[in-house]
Amino acid sequence: MSRPKILVTRKLPPAVEERLQKDYQPDLNGTDEVYGQEELLKRANNVDALLVTVTEQIDASLIEQLPASVKMIATFSVGYDQINVPAATARGISVSNTPGVLTNATADIAMLLLLGAARGAGTGEAAIRQDSWENWAPTGYLGRDITGKRLGILGMGRIGQALAKRARAFDMEIHYHNRTRLDADRELGAQFHATLESLLPKSDFLSIHAASTPETRKIINQETLQALPPGAIIVNTARGDLVDDDALIAELQSGHLGAAGLDVYNNEPNVDPRYRTLSNTFLLPHLGSATLETRNAMGFCALDNLDAFFANKPVPNLVTP
Ligand code: DGY
Repeated sequence: MSRPKILVTRKLPPAVEERLQKDYQPDLNGTDEVYGQEELLKRANNVDALLVTVTEQIDASLIEQLPASVKMIATFSVGYDQINVPAATARGISVSNTPGVLTNATADIAMLLLLGAARGAGTGEAAIRQDSWENWAPTGYLGRDITGKRLGILGMGRIGQALAKRARAFDMEIHYHNRTRLDADRELGAQFHATLESLLPKSDFLSIHAASTPETRKIINQETLQALPPGAIIVNTARGDLVDDDALIAELQSGHLGAAGLDVYNNEPNVDPRYRTLSNTFLLPHLGSATLETRNAMGFCALDNLDAFFANKPVPNLVTP
């Protein structure tokens, strides 16, 4: 059988592209431009699979127009909210993701945001870069301790648990809300809350680790934010659309919230400009999985999924039924 043809929508790390070239006939994206729907459809002509990322909208209309040759969509991400999975299922197209391999890198960024937001690291770094640091002052650049504080984790999957592990080293008290309670071996003393309403008042810090679904979109809104203790700090490494920006910005402006550390946004990369004007935000550009080791592992994981599919073997990380 000839090597399957794969449309690869973005530039991938060299080791991943090397493996693609060895095992497949890939259409690589040398310029790394983000393809729009028209370009995607043009390039999908006659290919066997798509290897996509979080920057392409693989919606129902695009899936309906894909040629019959496309049998699989492998995303280079753990999240697959950008893909209309029911539409793919209806067309008999398999979809896979890359869970597990980016857990530690993402939990590291959540910890960095938690610390950065609590300690005003963005403001401090900007002062050095702008040469506006006047001197050390007893009341200058005052942040908040994280030691001994309560960390609420919304979504206690792999990444939530990896953040809890890191936060325990800072003597934080862990609380969480998850669809199902973890067994004691994985809970490790964290306090389970059966509802989000119960978790929020216990969260001096709240870190979001839920998937983006119709049920979770804007789950962080005026009502939920006001249920946090005064001065609470919120961290998001999951998806921007879990947060209502107007509500979060209003609570940051009013001072009800102490700070926010954000790595993901609505309408990326067009970040709501109001976040930039607030001194109590610490902002990163969707860096959760951005280490060479992790991006290689994500690429290899996506290729393992494709390899299994084309070898008629069980696909390790299938998200379609
Ligand atoms: C994911 O994998 O879903 C991240 O958001 C991108 O690494």
